[in-house]
Parts: sequence; structure tokens; C-alpha cells
Amino acid sequence: MSSTPHSFEVESVLSQLSLEEKASLTSGSHFWYTQPIERLGVPRIMVSDGPHGLRAQPDTGDGGDHVGLGGSLPATCFPTAAAIASSWSPALLRRIGEALAEEARAINLSVILGPGINMKRSPLCGRNFEYFSEDPFLAGELAVGIVDGIQSRGVGVSVKHFAANNQETDRLRVSADVSMRALREIYLPAFERVVTASQPWTIMCSYNKINGVSSSENTWLLTDVLRDEWGFRGLVVSDWGAVYHRVPAAKAGLDLEMPPTAGSPAELVDAVRSGELDEQVVTDRARAVLTLVAKGSHVLELHETADLDAHHALAREAAATSVVLLKNDDNILPLATDRRLAVIGEFARTPRFQGAGSSQVNPTRIDTALDALTAAFPEVTFAAGFGVDDPAHDDVLADEAVTAASAADVVVAFLGLPGSYESEGFDRTHMRLPESQLGLLARLRAANPHLVVVLANGSTIELGQVTPHVKGLVEAWLGGQASGSAVVDVLIGAVNPSGHLAETFPLRLEDNPSHLNFPGDSGHVSYGEGLYIGYRGYDKAARGVAFPFGYGMSYTTFDYDDLQVSVTGSVADGTLAATVSVAVTNTGDAAGADVVQIYVRDPESTAGRPVRELKGFARVDLQPGASETATVRLDQRAFSYWSDLLDRWVVEAGEFVIEAAYDSRTIAASTSITIDAPPVAAPLSAESTLQEWLADPRGGEILRSGRHGTVAILADPEMVAVIGNFPMSALASFGMSLDKAQLAAALAEVSQQ
Ligand code: GLC
Repeated sequence: MSSTPHSFEVESVLSQLSLEEKASLTSGSHFWYTQPIERLGVPRIMVSDGPHGLRAQPDTGDGGDHVGLGGSLPATCFPTAAAIASSWSPALLRRIGEALAEEARAINLSVILGPGINMKRSPLCGRNFEYFSEDPFLAGELAVGIVDGIQSRGVGVSVKHFAANNQETDRLRVSADVSMRALREIYLPAFERVVTASQPWTIMCSYNKINGVSSSENTWLLTDVLRDEWGFRGLVVSDWGAVYHRVPAAKAGLDLEMPPTAGSPAELVDAVRSGELDEQVVTDRARAVLTLVAKGSHVLELHETADLDAHHALAREAAATSVVLLKNDDNILPLATDRRLAVIGEFARTPRFQGAGSSQVNPTRIDTALDALTAAFPEVTFAAGFGVDDPAHDDVLADEAVTAASAADVVVAFLGLPGSYESEGFDRTHMRLPESQLGLLARLRAANPHLVVVLANGSTIELGQVTPHVKGLVEAWLGGQASGSAVVDVLIGAVNPSGHLAETFPLRLEDNPSHLNFPGDSGHVSYGEGLYIGYRGYDKAARGVAFPFGYGMSYTTFDYDDLQVSVTGSVADGTLAATVSVAVTNTGDAAGADVVQIYVRDPESTAGRPVRELKGFARVDLQPGASETATVRLDQRAFSYWSDLLDRWVVEAGEFVIEAAYDSRTIAASTSITIDAPPVAAPLSAESTLQEWLADPRGGEILRSGRHGTVAILADPEMVAVIGNFPMSALASFGMSLDKAQLAAALAEVSQQ
């Protein structure tokens, strides 16, 4: 670390601090700042939201608590997580991270509070726009991209919200009641991936409880898993207001409470003095804060400026890369720019480009689709068609829109969710577009069949009343301040769409696996669907969907060929790996990018498993006619599931199917491999069933040998089928199997080998 006026040596400072000073470090000094220790030259550093742009509210000395969501410094509003996730490009995320860090350095900001990587369990979650995906693998890879990008420029992150914060309803109190297996396989892996790959400077614990224990005081979560198992070496900060009991939180592994609570440090001091709390805990928490400040304090000396024009251009490129082309009948897209165009919808003039709440950015500028279309087409007629926040139908606006549509060669309607429909702080209650928009759309279709719809929404919506009416359907998400120009780049073919859905579009809300249990009540929400969120659920229930996870069209076409899988290493020593390669060819006449997706299936598993799971992907940019071999490496975890019996990850021997896919429902090629692995069954015991004993090589041999007594029913396969799932201990009393003494002898022998 270069020595700057604010640099200091952590252990040296720590050794000179009183208990009171150490305790003071574990709470902020201001809504957005850590606590300084002036006498020892320890500065305060600033933290600030948010995931897709800075919402910085520097301390102006007026003592304001800056709880307001507005009033932040201008900053580039990049595409929200839901949008940028559709790029499936960690490399693009990295570039955005570097730009965010550049803007942070320019305002002497040390830590950016993001990315948000919670799973999209329900389409209704109000903050889904801030989260990447329903799939933990994709979310983890994208998180690594943006975290590495930000931290490569000497600015920290706060990966959030750890963990299982998948709804806004009652978010500070609700207990996410979730199985260990679902935690391990669905809700933790994205955090595990980014911690083990990128060592984020900080992790932000969530508001909610997990199985009755608040994340902020959850020792299993913050210490056993995060630090002891994953090797996290950074700082754990609370979500703002997420510390409910200060001393248990410190004990559990929470380093920094934000924002500060009056009297909080004194609670720690009193607890040490009373013997309730070991001073070493306070020292460890203070060390984590000092280490963070030491890492982040260099930005206080910087006098840099950010290239906001370049960042706007990047925001435009990123938004265009995030656009998902869902329908393109008659190749209505890209639009020929010599046509008479009707532009319908207030969103074309007043774009909705971000979500509400703590992530809200004060953008440096805003592009509108209307301006971009007016520049591209000789004749454009605009009609608002509906009121953005007024769900009621407006006949005058609608009539104007229909008139404009009737007179045009082609119509582009900009529809979407009003800001009042989705936000931090509350969840949606349905997945529909406003009736005013749906009613207008039907009239537009009747007036002119050459109709394209562009959507602005932070999470999946029901499209049953949209898709049939249109020839072209474009999902533009909440694409940031440049989304207006970006989506027009796609509409006119300046950019070939390459977005792929990072969340499923179900046919209806009721088909979503979490629907029966969302958002819970009486302080609890049951994650009853277990592993089966998103495509995992729709696949397992064999439900049709409007558009599947991974789906996305292009103005060109791609072909996959020559799928190859080579396996190395072994499960026994934890080194199993597979290299998957597939040749991708651009078979159309336009340059474009595709995302080849690699799914893994475990058809022989004795444990319940999803039909398939995403375990790899690769973006491939190709000129017309060109081919490239995409290569994806699968590690042992790609084949593993969490065994509740053994309380660890296991790979079950047998057949696995590796699939190369255009999306989770369109498999281009697949190949089977057979993997050898140690048994995954729990060690035999008296409570193991007859079937488990017979399935175990040693146990079966002992029972069949009769060495420790005759198991009479082995002679009757039908009886084995009927009572084979009785524990041996229960069978002992039936007189048709080993008695207790014989069973003990058999156990002794099987335990020896
Ligand atoms: C909010 C959000 C969190 C944000 C923090 C600071 O409540 O949950 O994402 O970073 O508080 O604004």
C-alpha cells in the first residue's frame, strides 16, 4: 500500500486503542461514513449505494441523515441488474465495474454498496430489478465480473444481501424458512462463488431471519460458512438498520453496524466489562473496520475526474447488449428507416430506466427512444397512448394513438410497468401490465398489424395479452440512462440483439413454484419449493412457459455442432473436472453474438434433483459464416448436490448428461458420461433400512451370507419390496430378520471394513 497522508498500520493502531475506541469503530459515524480515530490518524471513509450507479450523498456538514432517496450527486445510471444479466457477459460487467469505480474515485468514495445477488424466487419481489437471476451459477459469474471490475480500481464493494433476502414484504422481520439443501444449492452459491473468486472487501448481511435467526446475528452464516468454510477475509456490514441485538451480532461475526445507533458502542463496552463479551471479539471487529479503512483511505487523496461521456457510451452499449429479442415474425425487425413510423407510449418520451429505492441514481443525462427514432426516421408520429402512472384508461390518449397507428407503415409501442408497480420496500401483487396499456394494445393491433412492442420492466410479466398481438417483441428491461438510444440501436439493426433471459417468463403467476408460499405470513415465509425456483421448478413440474430461461433471438442464426466432453480427475480426491467444447457457427447473414449454454443432468440420482441445471456458458461473437469452438470447464461442484444425510457436497456415481443448449428448453446437443464415485449413502446403522443394507456392497454380503443370522424375507422378493424400507432395528422385532444381538454383530463387522 503506497504511503499517503491517510495511510496507517492496522495492528499498530489497534494496539493503541482503548476498548471504547475499538467499540466505536464497529458502528458508523454518519449514515454513509465509518468512525475516524483522529488522534491516531485513522480517517473516516465513505460508502454509498448502489449496484448500477452511485447514489452518493457526501456529508456536507449539515448533519443531515441523508435518509432521503433523492439528492445524490449526478452519476451514470447503468443498466439495472435484471437488464445487464441478460447480456450473460461477465466481461461487460467488469467494464461497468471499472467505470463505477472511476466515478467513485472521482468523489473520494471507498466502497460501493452492491452488487445485489439474491435469487429471484418469485417474480413479485419488488427488488428483482436489482438482482441478476433465478439461477445461482449465472448470478455468481456475473457478480465476479462486476466485483473484479470495481475492486481492480482500488474501490471496494458490498455484495448483498447475505442471505435469502428474496422479498420486500416484512423484510426486516420475516424468517425465510428454507432447507439446508436449498440454501446450499440455490441461495448461497452466488455468494460463495464471488467470495472464493474475488474476495469482496465487504459483504452486507440481510435484514431477514433464516430459519428463525436474524442474519445479522447468525453465527452459522457469518462465521462458520462465510469465514471458516469459504475463507472470507473482508468485513461484514449490516444492511441499514439490520442489527437488532448488538452484542449477539458482534459475537456472530458482524463487524460494522450501519447506520450508527446511539449507544451501540457502549453496549459492547458494557458487555465486555460485565464479562458477557470477550474483548477479543471487539478487537476482531475493530480490526476488520481498520483493515477496510486502510484499504479504502487512498481514495481520500485522489483528485480524479471520471469520463462521463465514455460512461454514457458504455451504458448505451451495455443496455443494447442486454436487450432480449423475444419475437420477430415476418422479420419485422430490424426496422427499415424509410418507413412512416408511429411511436406510441409515454415510456418512449419519458423512459423508465431504473427502479425505486436505495439504488436510485441521479443520472448525468437521459436518452429517450423518441429522440433516437425521430433522428433515424424521416416521418415519426408520437402519441402517449396512456398515462404512465395512471392505470386507468384514457380515451383521448388512446384514440390519438390509434389514429397515429392507422396512418403509419409500422408501429412501435413502448409499454411497461409503472414505477409504482415495483420498488424496494414492497412487492408486486400480480404480474400484469396496466389494463390501460393492454386495452390500447388490442386497439393498436386492430389498427395496424405491423406492430412492435418494447417492454420496460424490472422483472418478468405476464405476456398472454401481448405476444399474440404483435409481430415484434423486445424486452428492454430497466436499461439505465441510455436505454432509450440503446433500444433504438437494436430496433434499427445498428446493434444485433444478443440478450438472453436470466429469468423465466412464465405463462401466469400461479405457475411459479413459490406462488403457494409467497410472501408468507405471521413472520414466516416457507421456501416450500426447495430447490425448484425458476426454470428448475417449471421443468420439474413440466409446465409450459411463455419464454424459457436462457431464451433470446438474434437477427442472425447460429448452429451448434461437435459437442465434446473430456473428463479428468476423480471424485474421491475432489479433482473431478470436465472440459466441454462445442463448435458454434453463425449460419445467417448478419454478424452477431450468441450465448451457448451448458446444462448438466443427473438422471440416475437417488436424491431429487432438477431436470437440468446451468453449469457453464460462453458468449461467442461471430461474423456471418464464421465458426468458433466454445469451451467451458466444469469443476466437481458442477456434478454435486448437497447431501442432508452427510452434511456435505457429494457426487453420486453414475450417468450424467451434458447438454449444449440455445436456452433451457432448446437443447442443441447432448452427450452422456459415466462418473465413478464413492458411495454417498449414510454409514450403515441399526436405523438403516433393509433396502439400504442390501444396496450397500458390504452390508448386502453380510446379510446374504447368513454369518450373523438368517434374514428369512430375503427369500421373498415381494416381501422385501413391501417392508424393505423398514429400519433393521424395527425388523429385528419381527422374527424374520436379525435379532438385536445379531444386528449388533453385523454392524460391528460392517463398521470394521
Ligand atoms: C437499504 C438496502 C440496501 C442499501 C442500504 C443503504 O435498505 O436494503 O441494499 O445498500 O439500505 O441504502
